[in-house]
Amino acid sequence: MSLVLPRRSLLLGGAAALAGCALRPTAAADGVAATGFTHGVASGAPAADAVTLWTRYRPRGGGAARLSFEVAADEAFATVIARGEAEAGERAFWCARARVAGLPPGAWLHYRFRGPDGALSPAGRTRTLPAAGAGAQRWRVAVFSCSNGTSGWFNAYAHAAARDDIDLALHLGDYIYESPLTRPDASAALALARGLAPAHETLSLADYRARYASYRADPDLAELHRRLPMIAAWDDHETANNSWMDGASGHDPATEGDWRARRDAGVRAFREWLPMEAQPFGVYRIGDLATLHVAETRLEGRTRQLDLDAVAAAPDPAAALDAFRKGPLADPARTILGAAQERWLAEGLAASAAAGVRWQVLAQQVVMAPIVFPAPAAGWLAPSAALAPQQAAEAELRRMMASAGFASGMDRWDGYPAARARLLAAARQAGANLVVLSGDSHNAWASDLAHEGSPAGVEFAGQSVSSFGVERRWPAADPGVIAAAYRDLNPRLRWCDVSQRGYFVLDIAPDRVEAEFVFVPAGETRAAAATSSARLTVERGAGRLG
Ligand SMILES: [Fe+2]
Repeated sequence: MSLVLPRRSLLLGGAAALAGCALRPTAAADGVAATGFTHGVASGAPAADAVTLWTRYRPRGGGAARLSFEVAADEAFATVIARGEAEAGERAFWCARARVAGLPPGAWLHYRFRGPDGALSPAGRTRTLPAAGAGAQRWRVAVFSCSNGTSGWFNAYAHAAARDDIDLALHLGDYIYESPLTRPDASAALALARGLAPAHETLSLADYRARYASYRADPDLAELHRRLPMIAAWDDHETANNSWMDGASGHDPATEGDWRARRDAGVRAFREWLPMEAQPFGVYRIGDLATLHVAETRLEGRTRQLDLDAVAAAPDPAAALDAFRKGPLADPARTILGAAQERWLAEGLAASAAAGVRWQVLAQQVVMAPIVFPAPAAGWLAPSAALAPQQAAEAELRRMMASAGFASGMDRWDGYPAARARLLAAARQAGANLVVLSGDSHNAWASDLAHEGSPAGVEFAGQSVSSFGVERRWPAADPGVIAAAYRDLNPRLRWCDVSQRGYFVLDIAPDRVEAEFVFVPAGETRAAAATSSARLTVERGAGRLG
Protein backbone atom coordinates (compact mmCIF):
# COMPACT_ATOMS: atom_id res chain seq x y z
CA MET A 1 0.00 0.00 0.00
CA SER A 2 0.98 3.61 -0.32
CA LEU A 3 2.81 5.25 2.47
CA VAL A 4 2.67 9.00 2.35
CA LEU A 5 6.11 9.49 3.86
CA PRO A 6 8.85 9.51 1.25
CA ARG A 7 10.53 6.16 1.23
CA ARG A 8 14.00 7.43 1.97
CA SER A 9 12.86 9.00 5.20
CA LEU A 10 11.48 5.63 6.18
CA LEU A 11 14.83 4.03 5.65
CA LEU A 12 16.77 6.60 7.59
CA GLY A 13 14.46 6.86 10.56
CA GLY A 14 14.28 4.15 13.14
CA ALA A 15 17.80 2.88 12.77
CA ALA A 16 18.59 4.40 16.13
CA ALA A 17 15.93 2.25 17.73
CA LEU A 18 17.91 -0.83 16.79
CA ALA A 19 21.40 0.52 17.27
CA GLY A 20 23.30 -1.80 19.54
CA CYS A 21 20.80 -4.66 19.11
CA ALA A 22 22.43 -7.58 17.38
CA LEU A 23 19.73 -8.99 15.11
CA ARG A 24 20.31 -12.69 15.04
CA PRO A 25 18.09 -15.27 13.44
CA THR A 26 16.75 -18.02 15.64
CA ALA A 27 17.64 -21.60 14.84
CA ALA A 28 14.26 -22.03 13.15
CA ALA A 29 14.80 -18.98 10.98
CA ASP A 30 18.32 -19.91 10.03
CA GLY A 31 18.14 -22.12 6.96
CA VAL A 32 21.77 -23.12 7.39
CA ALA A 33 21.87 -24.34 10.96
CA ALA A 34 18.53 -26.11 11.40
CA THR A 35 18.06 -29.69 10.18
CA GLY A 36 15.12 -32.07 10.08
CA PHE A 37 11.59 -30.71 9.67
CA THR A 38 12.30 -27.01 10.22
CA HIS A 39 8.96 -25.29 9.56
CA GLY A 40 6.09 -27.66 10.20
CA VAL A 41 3.61 -28.48 7.45
CA ALA A 42 1.14 -26.66 5.22
CA SER A 43 -1.46 -27.49 2.60
CA GLY A 44 -3.11 -25.45 -0.08
CA ALA A 45 -4.59 -24.96 -3.52
CA PRO A 46 -7.45 -27.35 -2.76
CA ALA A 47 -9.69 -28.83 -5.43
CA ALA A 48 -12.59 -31.24 -4.95
CA ASP A 49 -10.22 -34.19 -5.47
CA ALA A 50 -6.75 -32.82 -4.81
CA VAL A 51 -4.61 -30.71 -2.53
CA THR A 52 -0.97 -29.63 -2.34
CA LEU A 53 1.01 -30.70 0.72
CA TRP A 54 4.08 -28.83 1.88
CA THR A 55 6.92 -29.21 4.33
CA ARG A 56 10.57 -28.28 4.66
CA TYR A 57 13.23 -30.79 5.56
CA ARG A 58 16.97 -30.37 5.72
CA PRO A 59 19.03 -33.51 6.04
CA ARG A 60 21.86 -33.56 8.53
CA GLY A 61 25.06 -33.48 6.50
CA GLY A 62 23.54 -31.69 3.50
CA GLY A 63 22.32 -32.90 0.15
CA ALA A 64 18.79 -33.79 -0.84
CA ALA A 65 16.30 -36.04 0.89
CA ARG A 66 13.44 -38.22 -0.32
CA LEU A 67 10.45 -37.76 1.97
CA SER A 68 7.41 -39.98 2.10
CA PHE A 69 3.95 -38.77 3.07
CA GLU A 70 0.64 -40.30 3.97
CA VAL A 71 -2.88 -38.89 3.89
CA ALA A 72 -5.47 -40.41 6.22
CA ALA A 73 -9.17 -40.06 6.82
CA ASP A 74 -8.61 -39.95 10.57
CA GLU A 75 -6.38 -38.16 13.02
CA ALA A 76 -4.80 -41.41 14.24
CA PHE A 77 -3.72 -42.35 10.67
CA ALA A 78 -5.57 -45.68 10.96
CA THR A 79 -7.20 -45.30 7.54
CA VAL A 80 -4.52 -44.15 5.11
CA ILE A 81 -6.03 -43.22 1.73
CA ALA A 82 -3.00 -41.89 -0.14
CA ARG A 83 0.77 -42.20 0.01
CA GLY A 84 3.56 -40.67 -2.01
CA GLU A 85 6.97 -39.07 -2.06
CA ALA A 86 8.42 -35.60 -2.29
CA GLU A 87 11.94 -34.31 -2.67
CA ALA A 88 13.56 -31.76 -0.38
CA GLY A 89 16.72 -30.33 -1.90
CA GLU A 90 18.86 -27.28 -2.36
CA ARG A 91 17.12 -26.11 -5.55
CA ALA A 92 13.94 -25.18 -3.69
CA PHE A 93 15.77 -24.33 -0.46
CA TRP A 94 14.66 -27.70 0.99
CA CYS A 95 10.99 -26.77 0.67
CA ALA A 96 9.16 -29.94 -0.45
CA ARG A 97 5.73 -30.28 -1.97
CA ALA A 98 3.45 -32.90 -3.43
CA ARG A 99 0.18 -32.59 -5.33
CA VAL A 100 -2.07 -35.37 -4.12
CA ALA A 101 -4.96 -36.35 -6.41
CA GLY A 102 -7.79 -38.86 -6.20
CA LEU A 103 -9.03 -37.58 -2.82
CA PRO A 104 -12.67 -37.59 -1.68
CA PRO A 105 -14.49 -34.24 -2.05
CA GLY A 106 -15.37 -32.00 0.88
CA ALA A 107 -13.36 -34.22 3.22
CA TRP A 108 -11.32 -33.33 6.26
CA LEU A 109 -8.05 -35.18 5.86
CA HIS A 110 -4.89 -35.63 7.92
CA TYR A 111 -1.36 -35.82 6.58
CA ARG A 112 2.24 -36.10 7.67
CA PHE A 113 5.68 -36.50 6.14
CA ARG A 114 8.44 -38.91 7.13
CA GLY A 115 12.14 -38.19 6.66
CA PRO A 116 14.73 -40.77 5.51
CA ASP A 117 15.86 -40.94 9.14
CA GLY A 118 12.35 -41.97 10.19
CA ALA A 119 11.56 -38.61 11.74
CA LEU A 120 7.92 -37.55 11.47
CA SER A 121 6.70 -34.06 10.67
CA PRO A 122 3.88 -32.56 12.71
CA ALA A 123 0.53 -33.94 11.52
CA GLY A 124 -1.48 -31.45 9.50
CA ARG A 125 -5.18 -31.17 8.72
CA THR A 126 -6.63 -30.15 5.39
CA ARG A 127 -9.89 -30.13 3.48
CA THR A 128 -10.77 -30.73 -0.15
CA LEU A 129 -13.43 -28.52 -1.74
CA PRO A 130 -16.98 -29.80 -2.15
CA ALA A 131 -17.84 -31.38 -5.49
CA ALA A 132 -20.23 -29.79 -7.98
CA GLY A 133 -23.70 -31.31 -7.69
CA ALA A 134 -23.08 -32.61 -4.17
CA GLY A 135 -25.32 -30.01 -2.57
CA ALA A 136 -22.89 -28.24 -0.22
CA GLN A 137 -24.86 -25.64 1.74
CA ARG A 138 -22.10 -23.77 3.52
CA TRP A 139 -18.42 -22.95 3.09
CA ARG A 140 -16.53 -20.65 5.42
CA VAL A 141 -13.35 -18.93 4.37
CA ALA A 142 -11.10 -17.00 6.76
CA VAL A 143 -9.59 -14.07 4.84
CA PHE A 144 -6.28 -12.48 5.83
CA SER A 145 -4.00 -9.74 4.53
CA CYS A 146 -1.06 -7.59 5.55
CA SER A 147 0.92 -9.36 8.24
CA ASN A 148 3.92 -7.21 9.04
CA GLY A 149 6.19 -9.05 11.45
CA THR A 150 7.57 -5.87 13.02
CA SER A 151 4.09 -4.39 13.71
CA GLY A 152 2.57 -7.01 15.97
CA TRP A 153 2.06 -10.66 16.77
CA PHE A 154 -0.11 -12.70 14.41
CA ASN A 155 -2.89 -13.12 16.96
CA ALA A 156 -5.45 -13.13 14.15
CA TYR A 157 -3.88 -16.33 12.77
CA ALA A 158 -3.98 -17.92 16.22
CA HIS A 159 -7.65 -17.00 16.65
CA ALA A 160 -8.70 -18.45 13.30
CA ALA A 161 -6.56 -21.59 13.77
CA ALA A 162 -8.32 -22.34 17.05
CA ARG A 163 -11.81 -22.21 15.52
CA ASP A 164 -13.62 -25.31 14.34
CA ASP A 165 -15.95 -23.64 11.85
CA ILE A 166 -13.51 -22.56 9.11
CA ASP A 167 -13.02 -24.63 5.94
CA LEU A 168 -10.32 -22.69 4.13
CA ALA A 169 -7.82 -19.88 4.73
CA LEU A 170 -7.32 -17.26 2.05
CA HIS A 171 -4.38 -14.83 2.19
CA LEU A 172 -4.69 -11.82 -0.08
CA GLY A 173 -1.06 -10.80 0.17
CA ASP A 174 1.54 -8.90 2.11
CA TYR A 175 2.13 -12.24 3.81
CA ILE A 176 5.71 -11.06 4.36
CA TYR A 177 7.12 -7.55 4.31
CA GLU A 178 10.31 -6.80 2.43
CA SER A 179 11.09 -3.73 4.54
CA PRO A 180 14.26 -3.29 6.56
CA LEU A 181 13.70 -4.21 10.19
CA THR A 182 14.77 -0.68 11.04
CA ARG A 183 11.79 1.07 9.42
CA PRO A 184 10.65 3.79 11.81
CA ASP A 185 7.42 2.12 12.84
CA ALA A 186 9.12 -1.23 13.48
CA SER A 187 9.22 -2.77 16.92
CA ALA A 188 12.81 -3.76 17.60
CA ALA A 189 11.58 -6.01 20.40
CA LEU A 190 9.31 -7.93 18.03
CA ALA A 191 12.02 -8.29 15.39
CA LEU A 192 14.30 -9.77 18.02
CA ALA A 193 11.71 -11.98 19.67
CA ARG A 194 10.78 -13.45 16.29
CA GLY A 195 14.34 -13.67 15.00
CA LEU A 196 13.33 -11.81 11.86
CA ALA A 197 15.97 -11.82 9.14
CA PRO A 198 17.69 -10.29 7.31
CA ALA A 199 17.97 -6.86 8.99
CA HIS A 200 18.13 -5.05 5.64
CA GLU A 201 15.50 -4.72 2.94
CA THR A 202 15.14 -7.95 1.00
CA LEU A 203 16.65 -7.77 -2.50
CA SER A 204 18.22 -11.10 -3.39
CA LEU A 205 16.82 -14.64 -3.42
CA ALA A 206 18.82 -15.38 -0.27
CA ASP A 207 17.23 -12.33 1.39
CA TYR A 208 13.66 -13.33 0.51
CA ARG A 209 14.28 -16.93 1.56
CA ALA A 210 15.61 -15.78 4.93
CA ARG A 211 12.61 -13.46 5.37
CA TYR A 212 10.16 -16.29 4.67
CA ALA A 213 12.09 -18.64 6.92
CA SER A 214 11.86 -16.20 9.80
CA TYR A 215 8.17 -15.40 9.24
CA ARG A 216 7.31 -19.05 8.96
CA ALA A 217 9.01 -19.69 12.30
CA ASP A 218 6.12 -17.75 13.87
CA PRO A 219 4.14 -20.26 15.96
CA ASP A 220 0.72 -18.79 15.11
CA LEU A 221 1.33 -18.79 11.37
CA ALA A 222 2.68 -22.35 11.65
CA GLU A 223 -0.47 -23.44 13.49
CA LEU A 224 -2.76 -21.78 10.93
CA HIS A 225 -0.98 -23.67 8.14
CA ARG A 226 -1.10 -26.92 10.11
CA ARG A 227 -4.84 -26.66 10.73
CA LEU A 228 -6.25 -25.31 7.44
CA PRO A 229 -5.58 -25.42 3.71
CA MET A 230 -4.60 -22.03 2.34
CA ILE A 231 -5.00 -20.26 -0.97
CA ALA A 232 -2.44 -17.47 -1.09
CA ALA A 233 -1.85 -14.63 -3.52
CA TRP A 234 0.99 -12.16 -3.32
CA ASP A 235 0.55 -8.39 -3.16
CA ASP A 236 3.32 -5.81 -3.34
CA HIS A 237 5.37 -6.55 -0.23
CA GLU A 238 6.29 -10.02 -1.45
CA THR A 239 8.45 -8.10 -3.93
CA ALA A 240 8.62 -4.34 -3.16
CA ASN A 241 6.27 -1.58 -2.00
CA ASN A 242 3.69 -0.49 -4.60
CA SER A 243 5.00 -2.84 -7.26
CA TRP A 244 3.72 -2.80 -10.82
CA MET A 245 4.63 -4.71 -13.96
CA ASP A 246 8.03 -3.13 -14.59
CA GLY A 247 9.04 -1.71 -11.23
CA ALA A 248 7.95 -0.45 -7.84
CA SER A 249 7.99 2.86 -6.01
CA GLY A 250 9.85 0.85 -3.36
CA HIS A 251 12.58 -0.18 -5.78
CA ASP A 252 15.40 2.07 -6.99
CA PRO A 253 17.33 0.42 -9.83
CA ALA A 254 20.25 2.81 -9.28
CA THR A 255 20.95 1.42 -5.83
CA GLU A 256 18.98 -1.81 -5.67
CA GLY A 257 19.75 -3.36 -9.02
CA ASP A 258 17.67 -4.83 -11.80
CA TRP A 259 13.93 -4.92 -11.09
CA ARG A 260 13.32 -8.16 -12.96
CA ALA A 261 15.96 -9.98 -10.95
CA ARG A 262 14.41 -8.75 -7.71
CA ARG A 263 10.89 -9.54 -8.85
CA ASP A 264 11.91 -13.04 -9.89
CA ALA A 265 13.64 -13.62 -6.55
CA GLY A 266 10.52 -12.56 -4.62
CA VAL A 267 8.21 -14.67 -6.76
CA ARG A 268 10.50 -17.70 -6.57
CA ALA A 269 10.70 -17.53 -2.78
CA PHE A 270 6.90 -17.19 -2.57
CA ARG A 271 6.48 -20.28 -4.70
CA GLU A 272 8.95 -22.20 -2.58
CA TRP A 273 7.30 -21.33 0.72
CA LEU A 274 3.57 -21.33 -0.11
CA PRO A 275 1.61 -24.52 -0.87
CA MET A 276 0.25 -23.12 -4.12
CA GLU A 277 -0.07 -24.47 -7.64
CA ALA A 278 -2.09 -22.09 -9.81
CA GLN A 279 -0.10 -18.88 -10.00
CA PRO A 280 -0.21 -16.05 -10.65
CA PHE A 281 -3.98 -16.36 -11.10
CA GLY A 282 -6.43 -19.23 -10.93
CA VAL A 283 -9.96 -20.37 -10.18
CA TYR A 284 -11.32 -22.71 -7.51
CA ARG A 285 -14.81 -24.18 -7.57
CA ILE A 286 -16.53 -24.53 -4.21
CA GLY A 287 -19.26 -26.98 -5.22
CA ASP A 288 -22.25 -25.13 -6.60
CA LEU A 289 -21.89 -22.42 -3.97
CA ALA A 290 -19.19 -20.31 -5.57
CA THR A 291 -16.37 -19.98 -7.96
CA LEU A 292 -13.40 -18.29 -6.33
CA HIS A 293 -11.35 -16.45 -8.93
CA VAL A 294 -8.01 -15.39 -7.48
CA ALA A 295 -6.54 -12.57 -9.54
CA GLU A 296 -3.14 -10.87 -9.58
CA THR A 297 -3.05 -7.06 -9.63
CA ARG A 298 0.68 -6.31 -9.35
CA LEU A 299 3.11 -8.01 -11.69
CA GLU A 300 1.03 -9.59 -14.41
CA GLY A 301 -0.28 -6.54 -16.21
CA ARG A 302 -0.45 -3.48 -13.96
CA THR A 303 0.62 -0.31 -15.70
CA ARG A 304 2.54 2.19 -13.61
CA GLN A 305 0.69 4.04 -10.84
CA LEU A 306 0.02 7.69 -11.59
CA ASP A 307 1.13 10.21 -9.01
CA LEU A 308 -0.57 13.37 -7.89
CA ASP A 309 2.54 15.44 -7.17
CA ALA A 310 2.10 17.63 -10.25
CA VAL A 311 -1.54 18.25 -9.37
CA ALA A 312 -0.64 19.26 -5.82
CA ALA A 313 2.14 21.56 -7.03
CA ALA A 314 0.10 23.25 -9.80
CA PRO A 315 -0.75 26.96 -9.44
CA ASP A 316 -4.44 26.02 -9.67
CA PRO A 317 -4.65 22.52 -8.14
CA ALA A 318 -8.41 22.19 -8.72
CA ALA A 319 -8.03 22.87 -12.45
CA ALA A 320 -5.02 20.55 -12.60
CA LEU A 321 -7.03 17.80 -10.90
CA ASP A 322 -9.86 18.20 -13.38
CA ALA A 323 -7.41 17.87 -16.30
CA PHE A 324 -5.76 14.87 -14.64
CA ARG A 325 -9.10 13.06 -14.22
CA LYS A 326 -10.18 13.63 -17.79
CA GLY A 327 -6.73 12.97 -19.22
CA PRO A 328 -4.17 10.45 -17.98
CA LEU A 329 -6.41 8.85 -15.34
CA ALA A 330 -9.20 8.07 -17.81
CA ASP A 331 -6.87 6.43 -20.35
CA PRO A 332 -8.42 3.04 -21.20
CA ALA A 333 -4.95 1.63 -21.87
CA ARG A 334 -4.24 1.71 -18.13
CA THR A 335 -4.73 -1.81 -16.77
CA ILE A 336 -4.40 -3.37 -13.35
CA LEU A 337 -4.83 -6.99 -14.51
CA GLY A 338 -3.42 -6.85 -18.04
CA ALA A 339 -5.42 -7.73 -21.15
CA ALA A 340 -5.02 -11.52 -20.91
CA GLN A 341 -6.09 -11.72 -17.28
CA GLU A 342 -9.00 -9.31 -17.88
CA ARG A 343 -10.26 -11.62 -20.60
CA TRP A 344 -9.76 -14.73 -18.46
CA LEU A 345 -11.73 -13.13 -15.64
CA ALA A 346 -14.61 -11.87 -17.79
CA GLU A 347 -14.94 -15.29 -19.43
CA GLY A 348 -14.66 -17.05 -16.07
CA LEU A 349 -17.38 -14.95 -14.45
CA ALA A 350 -19.66 -15.54 -17.42
CA ALA A 351 -19.05 -19.30 -17.44
CA SER A 352 -19.62 -19.55 -13.69
CA ALA A 353 -22.90 -17.63 -13.79
CA ALA A 354 -24.07 -19.57 -16.85
CA ALA A 355 -23.37 -22.85 -15.03
CA GLY A 356 -25.73 -21.78 -12.25
CA VAL A 357 -23.04 -21.41 -9.60
CA ARG A 358 -24.65 -19.29 -6.88
CA TRP A 359 -21.86 -16.74 -6.25
CA GLN A 360 -18.97 -15.36 -8.25
CA VAL A 361 -16.30 -14.49 -5.70
CA LEU A 362 -13.27 -12.52 -6.88
CA ALA A 363 -10.30 -12.46 -4.52
CA GLN A 364 -7.62 -9.93 -5.34
CA GLN A 365 -5.34 -7.53 -3.55
CA VAL A 366 -6.32 -3.86 -3.61
CA VAL A 367 -9.51 -2.00 -2.69
CA MET A 368 -11.88 -1.80 -5.65
CA ALA A 369 -14.70 0.52 -4.52
CA PRO A 370 -14.09 4.23 -5.05
CA ILE A 371 -13.18 5.81 -1.71
CA VAL A 372 -12.80 9.56 -1.29
CA PHE A 373 -10.47 10.30 1.62
CA PRO A 374 -11.94 12.83 4.04
CA ALA A 375 -9.80 15.75 5.21
CA PRO A 376 -8.79 15.58 8.85
CA ALA A 377 -11.03 17.55 11.14
CA ALA A 378 -11.61 18.11 14.83
CA GLY A 379 -11.34 14.85 16.74
CA TRP A 380 -8.89 13.21 14.33
CA LEU A 381 -5.97 13.64 16.65
CA ALA A 382 -5.78 12.96 20.34
CA PRO A 383 -6.43 16.24 22.23
CA SER A 384 -2.77 16.77 23.17
CA ALA A 385 -1.46 16.21 19.61
CA ALA A 386 -0.98 18.79 16.88
CA LEU A 387 -0.74 18.29 13.12
CA ALA A 388 2.87 17.79 12.04
CA PRO A 389 3.87 19.96 9.04
CA GLN A 390 3.58 16.98 6.69
CA GLN A 391 0.12 16.15 8.07
CA ALA A 392 -0.95 19.77 7.57
CA ALA A 393 0.13 19.65 3.93
CA GLU A 394 -1.71 16.36 3.43
CA ALA A 395 -4.80 17.80 5.14
CA GLU A 396 -4.81 20.70 2.69
CA LEU A 397 -4.52 18.38 -0.30
CA ARG A 398 -7.24 16.10 1.04
CA ARG A 399 -9.60 19.05 1.51
CA MET A 400 -9.24 19.98 -2.14
CA MET A 401 -9.63 16.41 -3.40
CA ALA A 402 -12.57 15.67 -1.12
CA SER A 403 -14.39 18.80 -2.25
CA ALA A 404 -13.90 17.62 -5.85
CA GLY A 405 -15.24 14.16 -4.88
CA PHE A 406 -11.97 12.65 -6.06
CA ALA A 407 -10.99 9.15 -4.90
CA SER A 408 -7.24 9.54 -4.74
CA GLY A 409 -5.88 6.05 -4.00
CA MET A 410 -3.71 5.75 -7.10
CA ASP A 411 -2.33 2.34 -6.06
CA ARG A 412 -5.89 0.92 -5.82
CA TRP A 413 -8.53 0.39 -8.50
CA ASP A 414 -9.21 4.14 -8.14
CA GLY A 415 -6.01 4.56 -10.15
CA TYR A 416 -7.42 2.37 -12.94
CA PRO A 417 -11.04 3.53 -13.40
CA ALA A 418 -11.44 2.34 -17.00
CA ALA A 419 -10.24 -1.16 -16.06
CA ARG A 420 -12.64 -1.21 -13.12
CA ALA A 421 -15.52 -0.17 -15.35
CA ARG A 422 -14.67 -2.95 -17.82
CA LEU A 423 -14.65 -5.56 -15.06
CA LEU A 424 -17.93 -4.42 -13.48
CA ALA A 425 -19.58 -4.19 -16.91
CA ALA A 426 -18.49 -7.76 -17.61
CA ALA A 427 -19.85 -8.93 -14.25
CA ARG A 428 -23.20 -7.26 -14.90
CA GLN A 429 -23.39 -8.63 -18.40
CA ALA A 430 -22.70 -12.12 -17.04
CA GLY A 431 -25.49 -11.75 -14.49
CA ALA A 432 -22.88 -12.51 -11.85
CA ASN A 433 -23.57 -12.37 -8.13
CA LEU A 434 -20.23 -10.69 -7.59
CA VAL A 435 -18.46 -10.61 -4.24
CA VAL A 436 -15.04 -8.94 -4.36
CA LEU A 437 -12.50 -9.61 -1.60
CA SER A 438 -9.60 -7.23 -1.03
CA GLY A 439 -6.71 -6.56 1.35
CA ASP A 440 -3.76 -4.17 1.26
CA SER A 441 -5.39 -1.18 2.96
CA HIS A 442 -4.90 -2.38 6.58
CA ASN A 443 -8.41 -1.27 7.59
CA ALA A 444 -11.85 -2.83 7.08
CA TRP A 445 -14.39 -1.69 4.49
CA ALA A 446 -17.67 -3.00 3.11
CA SER A 447 -18.97 -1.32 -0.03
CA ASP A 448 -21.59 -1.62 -2.70
CA LEU A 449 -20.11 -1.72 -6.19
CA ALA A 450 -21.93 0.01 -9.00
CA HIS A 451 -21.59 0.30 -12.74
CA GLU A 452 -23.20 3.29 -14.45
CA GLY A 453 -25.34 3.78 -11.37
CA SER A 454 -26.66 0.19 -11.19
CA PRO A 455 -25.75 -2.37 -8.52
CA ALA A 456 -22.84 -4.55 -9.68
CA GLY A 457 -21.88 -6.48 -6.56
CA VAL A 458 -20.30 -5.95 -3.17
CA GLU A 459 -16.79 -5.66 -1.81
CA PHE A 460 -15.43 -6.85 1.52
CA ALA A 461 -11.98 -5.40 2.12
CA GLY A 462 -10.31 -6.80 5.19
CA GLN A 463 -8.33 -5.24 7.98
CA SER A 464 -4.72 -6.27 8.41
CA VAL A 465 -3.45 -9.09 10.57
CA SER A 466 -0.88 -6.75 12.13
CA SER A 467 0.10 -3.83 9.86
CA PHE A 468 -0.73 -0.34 11.08
CA GLY A 469 -3.59 1.52 9.38
CA VAL A 470 -5.44 4.81 9.45
CA GLU A 471 -5.30 4.86 13.26
CA ARG A 472 -1.53 5.26 13.17
CA ARG A 473 -1.61 8.29 10.87
CA TRP A 474 -4.50 10.00 12.64
CA PRO A 475 -4.59 8.76 16.22
CA ALA A 476 -8.12 9.92 17.01
CA ALA A 477 -9.40 9.77 20.54
CA ASP A 478 -12.53 8.19 18.99
CA PRO A 479 -11.88 6.32 15.70
CA GLY A 480 -15.63 6.37 15.11
CA VAL A 481 -15.27 10.05 14.21
CA ILE A 482 -12.96 9.17 11.32
CA ALA A 483 -15.10 6.22 10.22
CA ALA A 484 -18.14 8.52 10.11
CA ALA A 485 -16.21 11.04 8.00
CA TYR A 486 -15.39 8.31 5.46
CA ARG A 487 -19.03 7.17 5.32
CA ASP A 488 -20.35 10.72 4.95
CA LEU A 489 -18.21 11.26 1.87
CA ASN A 490 -18.80 7.84 0.31
CA PRO A 491 -22.48 6.83 0.11
CA ARG A 492 -21.67 3.36 -1.25
CA LEU A 493 -19.28 2.68 1.60
CA ARG A 494 -21.76 0.93 3.87
CA TRP A 495 -19.48 0.23 6.82
CA CYS A 496 -15.86 0.67 7.83
CA ASP A 497 -13.57 0.26 10.78
CA VAL A 498 -10.42 2.36 10.81
CA SER A 499 -8.63 1.23 13.94
CA GLN A 500 -8.62 -2.54 14.50
CA ARG A 501 -6.67 -5.62 13.38
CA GLY A 502 -7.84 -9.16 12.66
CA TYR A 503 -9.44 -11.00 9.73
CA PHE A 504 -12.85 -11.70 8.30
CA VAL A 505 -14.83 -14.85 7.65
CA LEU A 506 -16.67 -15.12 4.38
CA ASP A 507 -19.63 -17.38 5.11
CA ILE A 508 -21.05 -18.62 1.80
CA ALA A 509 -24.56 -20.10 1.65
CA PRO A 510 -26.70 -20.62 -1.47
CA ASP A 511 -28.87 -17.54 -0.99
CA ARG A 512 -26.71 -15.19 1.04
CA VAL A 513 -23.11 -14.38 1.78
CA GLU A 514 -22.10 -12.89 5.10
CA ALA A 515 -18.80 -11.33 6.07
CA GLU A 516 -17.98 -11.49 9.76
CA PHE A 517 -15.17 -9.05 10.56
CA VAL A 518 -13.36 -10.37 13.63
CA PHE A 519 -11.23 -7.93 15.57
CA VAL A 520 -8.14 -9.40 17.18
CA PRO A 521 -5.57 -6.98 18.60
CA ALA A 522 -1.99 -7.55 17.38
CA GLY A 523 0.58 -5.53 19.36
CA GLU A 524 3.47 -6.83 21.43
CA THR A 525 1.59 -9.51 23.38
CA ARG A 526 0.62 -12.92 22.04
CA ALA A 527 -3.06 -13.34 22.91
CA ALA A 528 -5.68 -14.74 20.57
CA ALA A 529 -8.74 -12.99 22.00
CA ALA A 530 -11.29 -11.31 19.76
CA THR A 531 -12.65 -8.02 21.03
CA SER A 532 -15.75 -7.66 18.91
CA SER A 533 -17.02 -8.40 15.44
CA ALA A 534 -19.24 -6.89 12.78
CA ARG A 535 -21.41 -8.70 10.21
CA LEU A 536 -22.44 -7.55 6.74
CA THR A 537 -24.73 -9.55 4.49
CA VAL A 538 -25.65 -9.67 0.81
CA GLU A 539 -28.67 -11.60 -0.48
CA ARG A 540 -28.34 -13.38 -3.80
CA GLY A 541 -29.68 -11.27 -6.66
CA ALA A 542 -29.49 -7.98 -4.72
CA GLY A 543 -26.12 -6.79 -6.02
CA ARG A 544 -25.75 -4.67 -2.90
CA LEU A 545 -25.37 -5.10 0.85
CA GLY A 546 -28.56 -5.66 2.82
FE1 LIG B 1 -0.12 -4.16 -0.21
